[in-house]
Amino acid sequence: MKLFDVYPLFDINIVKGKGVNVWDDKGQEYLDLYGGHAVISIGHCHPHYVEMMTKQLNTLGFYSNSVINKLQVELAERLGKISGYEDYQFFLINSGAEANENALKLASFKNGRKRVLSFEKAFHGRTSLAVEVTNNPKIIAPINDNNHVTFLPLNDLEAWEKELAKGDVCACILECIQGVGGVNMVTPEFAQGLQKACKKYGSILICDEIQCGYGRSGKFFAHQWLGIRPDIISVAKGIGNGFPMGGILISPDFEPVYGQLGTTFGGNHLACTAALAVLDVFENEGLVENAHLVGEYLMDELKQLQQRTTHIKSVRGQGLMVGVVLDIPHKEVRNKLIYEQHCFTGCASTDILRILPPLCLTRDNVDDFIQRFETVLNEL
Ligand SMILES: Cc1ncc(COP(=O)(O)O)c(C=O)c1O
Repeated sequence: MKLFDVYPLFDINIVKGKGVNVWDDKGQEYLDLYGGHAVISIGHCHPHYVEMMTKQLNTLGFYSNSVINKLQVELAERLGKISGYEDYQFFLINSGAEANENALKLASFKNGRKRVLSFEKAFHGRTSLAVEVTNNPKIIAPINDNNHVTFLPLNDLEAWEKELAKGDVCACILECIQGVGGVNMVTPEFAQGLQKACKKYGSILICDEIQCGYGRSGKFFAHQWLGIRPDIISVAKGIGNGFPMGGILISPDFEPVYGQLGTTFGGNHLACTAALAVLDVFENEGLVENAHLVGEYLMDELKQLQQRTTHIKSVRGQGLMVGVVLDIPHKEVRNKLIYEQHCFTGCASTDILRILPPLCLTRDNVDDFIQRFETVLNEL
């Protein structure tokens, strides 16, 4: 049997990782400023993570959600504390798309409505509801196209208020820093105005923190830069540092109903152990603060690089989620970075490099990257 060929692949076989580096099967080392698509939060193969996972695997890998799982309770308590959402409730699933799927379902159960407002260029995942609120017709199959969603421009509060005033909007879903859309930033004025309008018209505010959250922005959640408190927050990617998991933080206004949501694998013992190890390292190594400080340094260095080279039009982002807008397609730049400079980065649109490193990135790593990036820019 062959693989179902849906991914355009780099001709590289990554077999090992440590901290912010990965190695291919020929022993070539790479600097990883992509984190396997913003997934690696505490660094590859962190010793504490490996130790906790090994211990758990030797004790119990999985049991179902029909019995008490104290690891889930511990995780909810720890996450509540570190994120500033101690009064919220936590539901665990296996991926980002599933997190948004459950967030939207819960919103609809709550107010009985079906309509959703989402940003132009939004990306929320590939399952039925998650893909329907994603603004990319190429990945929406006819079966997912059910006319539930209106896509509206980023930060155009008047347009959003006008739709909300119709009184039939179930939920508004937003990435406070758009990932796939190109590292576009929501403004505090928009976010606060939207929260007010959602409350006024009985709509649920959902923040998708799957990419921009979990410490990446330099606060625990990106929306915490904007002065809002959403009704539901979806998380995934960095929560398990590569162990597939997702979750939603749910406001105390929502009453849980037995059987309304459920999952076989979500919140299993290994998953919770991965997430607890991640939170341990966040606390022990101050990784959220590190994302803030090293992110600012990265941004400054990129702006200086913009002055002394050609091809960088602008730099934007927050913490360790940074977009570099180029005046040329990103393809050649990214290829040169990977194949010649041995440095992974992400991309967005046709002309944006997206930098999403592990949150343990150091200033030395930044200096190293800038040198490699400058070499590439000078050769183009
Ligand atoms: C903002 C955002 N939401 C949702 C998802 C979907 O997550 P997953 O691929 O784990 O389903 C992604 C993945 O890239 C994302 O960036």
